[in-house]
Amino acid sequence: MKANHILAAISLASMVNAHGYLTVPKSRTRLGTEVGIDTCPECTIREPVNAWPDVEEATVGRSGPCGFNARVGVDYNVPSTHWGNEPVATYKPGDVVDVQWCVDHNGDHGGMFSYRICQDQDLVNKLLTPGYTPTEAEKQAAEDCFQDGILPCSDVPGQTCEFSPDCSPGQPCWRNDWFTCNAFGADHRRACQGVDNAPVGSCYTSIAGGFPVTTRVRIPDYVSNHTLLSFRWNSWQTAQVYLTCADIAILPDGGSAAPPPDPGAPCTSMPVTFDQVVTTAPGQTVKIVGSIPRLGSWNPASAPSLSAARYTSTDHLWTTTLELPAGQAFQYKFVIVGSDGAVRWESDPNRSYTVPTTCQSGGVTVGGTWRR
Ligand SMILES: *[C@@H]1O[C@H](CO)[C@@H](O)[C@H](O)[C@H]1NC(C)=O
Ligand SMILES: *[C@@H]1O[C@H](CO)[C@@H](O)[C@H](O)[C@H]1NC(C)=O
Repeated sequence: MKANHILAAISLASMVNAHGYLTVPKSRTRLGTEVGIDTCPECTIREPVNAWPDVEEATVGRSGPCGFNARVGVDYNVPSTHWGNEPVATYKPGDVVDVQWCVDHNGDHGGMFSYRICQDQDLVNKLLTPGYTPTEAEKQAAEDCFQDGILPCSDVPGQTCEFSPDCSPGQPCWRNDWFTCNAFGADHRRACQGVDNAPVGSCYTSIAGGFPVTTRVRIPDYVSNHTLLSFRWNSWQTAQVYLTCADIAILPDGGSAAPPPDPGAPCTSMPVTFDQVVTTAPGQTVKIVGSIPRLGSWNPASAPSLSAARYTSTDHLWTTTLELPAGQAFQYKFVIVGSDGAVRWESDPNRSYTVPTTCQSGGVTVGGTWRR
């Protein structure tokens, strides 16, 4: 009897106290709110689902990548007069941009969040067609593509990429390509509101006032006149996932889209992927440090981190892709940074590399193994 009572109270709390949505760039949800159609922008919820510890397990159902707000009956999967027709922001491939979401004071459930771009235009187009409601299968296919297109925390030089304090090594949530909120039970800077630590009301929510959560992502080397930046937040406290998106363009030089470069044509810059096998312990991060500013000018604190998104028990792969000037010559090494900040350098000699001066389709890859 008592247990039932508590359960009822919990499920009521999760109905009443909500939650979060993408604010920068302006999401479809934010636009719906600004014109008065959506009176609870933080209320688009996919529930009940297994949101934790496997942050990828939940299927998206009718919510889909851009969210069905059942509270107010608004479907953000379908473009309308006020959202979904035009990009709200135009970026360049390789841009590092500030992104922000807003978490409600009463609905800060902690957990982890990610920003994603799906590079399959046909799948995204299902959510860009005026008057067309995508099927659940189409929404799931788009979501699977978004999961493959996570914009890793570690792609942004100097950004600290932590593991969730509410997850343990060995659990599927033990990954730092996603961003994490702080510990749900922390006594200061707790949960998602602790990420920026800004005052309540710094962004708009309808229930109890919002806290902004700001991070940075790197726009991938992909071009589209109109695509979606998708935001997904997996709650730690409740069996809930939140999905919203913003309509964006990704164009070379932020201007008109050019055809892809001819292989063999001269290039000004190109993506260079570093695939490095480094055996690390949980909590350690790998960085690439080198002689050019993009690699921190030999200062590990300003050097870019690699991502462990492809690290498995049998393939200890750390990887990152950096847009580097064609013809640029530099020296570099990899370092392992411990959870206490201690830096371990590879042994000598320095590595050297020169970026090619002619375009290569998909850029170039530099592979290697940690030098003890
Ligand atoms: C973007 O639109 C322009 C003008 O319609 C077109 O020429 C170009 O091919 C488009 N680019 C892409 C990547 O679809
Ligand atoms: C590697 O580069 C650093 C910075 O220029 C330099 O101090 C160091 O001597 C180099 N190491 C070797 C083995 O050349």
